Amino acid sequence: MSFTETAALEDRYQLATYKKIPIVAERGEGVWIYASGGERYLDLYGGHAVAGTGHCHPDVVAAIRAQAEQLLFYSNLVYSETRARAAEKLVSVAPASITQAFFCNSGTEANENAMRMARMKTGRERIITFSGGFHGRTADAISATFLGRYREIGKPNVPGHLQAEFGDIDSVRAVADESVAAIMLEPIQSMAGVRMAGLDFYRALRQLCDERQIVLIYDEVQTGVGRTGEWFFAGSEAGNRVVPDIITLAKALGSGIPVGACLVSNEIALHIKENDLGTTFGGGMIAMAAVTATLEAIENDGMLANVRDVEAYLRERLKEVEQIVSVRGRGFLLGLEFAGQARPVHEALLERQIITGTSSDANVLRLLPPLCLGKEEVDLFVDALEGLG
Ligand SMILES: Cc1ncc(COP(=O)(O)O)c(C=O)c1O
Repeated sequence: MSFTETAALEDRYQLATYKKIPIVAERGEGVWIYASGGERYLDLYGGHAVAGTGHCHPDVVAAIRAQAEQLLFYSNLVYSETRARAAEKLVSVAPASITQAFFCNSGTEANENAMRMARMKTGRERIITFSGGFHGRTADAISATFLGRYREIGKPNVPGHLQAEFGDIDSVRAVADESVAAIMLEPIQSMAGVRMAGLDFYRALRQLCDERQIVLIYDEVQTGVGRTGEWFFAGSEAGNRVVPDIITLAKALGSGIPVGACLVSNEIALHIKENDLGTTFGGGMIAMAAVTATLEAIENDGMLANVRDVEAYLRERLKEVEQIVSVRGRGFLLGLEFAGQARPVHEALLERQIITGTSSDANVLRLLPPLCLGKEEVDLFVDALEGLG
């Protein structure tokens, strides 16, 4: 099918909920996406931050293929070596106080379950989240999303969601009374334009949660699984070594196979009993094979060190680009703040076959490339940026 035919067919039969990049993606390899006409695109958006290990990492593909030939799926009603190994591997790379995993299928579902666990542990109902945070589109998660018009889309909202200002501990203190079960945050707010809080903020949140027996949840759907150059923002130096009680994950966790997870401390695990949480597909064998292979690929290919090294190189090279006023974020979750609007830059780069992301901050271009991005590709990108004049 030609590009025009494919686009017409998809537009005819799929609801038009996304503004699409005008290409038909046919094949992927590492940091490259090949379109139907044979042209290749440098993917600095990573398929919505999913392609952490790069597109079609051979070891991940092999693990999925091998599992598919053995058993596509059985639910949590049975034991599975594939699931056992995935859970063990994931907990082993998490901060020491994290002891168990709950598997689900997406980021929003991970956040729903995290909030539910916090309510179960504390016997309280309210949840504090932050201006600019995004947590997903199911009822509770969208009600926790104080970004743009998401709560409006999600009406009627789940009651008991309180808003505080990201980075402002006094605004959290003002609402964190004895009715609050959890404080949940994206430790780096991605969609808001890659916003980080001051180091003290993360520590102060942890202290406040300890003082008031509130559960601290980090939504690491974007920051997790190596994106910041560490396995997680939780426990990292960039996060002042603060470890929350629950970490939620999705996106890059399965390299493209849908999978989400809640990583929990033993304190939380003690309050969760049989039948408190559930899901048909969560913990399915294909997803679990993808999780283990993803984590092993990141390890075997030294991707965490690569992220740190290439981030430093990229930051250095970006100093040459006059239109950029600041570079925010960490590792391969970067927000390039332009003096003017970012969308024309995004579109001009697309014409040069480079895919980037925009954000809800009109001046910020977002980069969420695969963790295997190299310096050569950084050069291509920065040269293209400079060429825009
Ligand atoms: C920080 C964050 N949390 C949650 C979600 C929701 O994840 P999903 O789309 O897998 O439900 C997203 C998705 O973009 C996200 O960026």
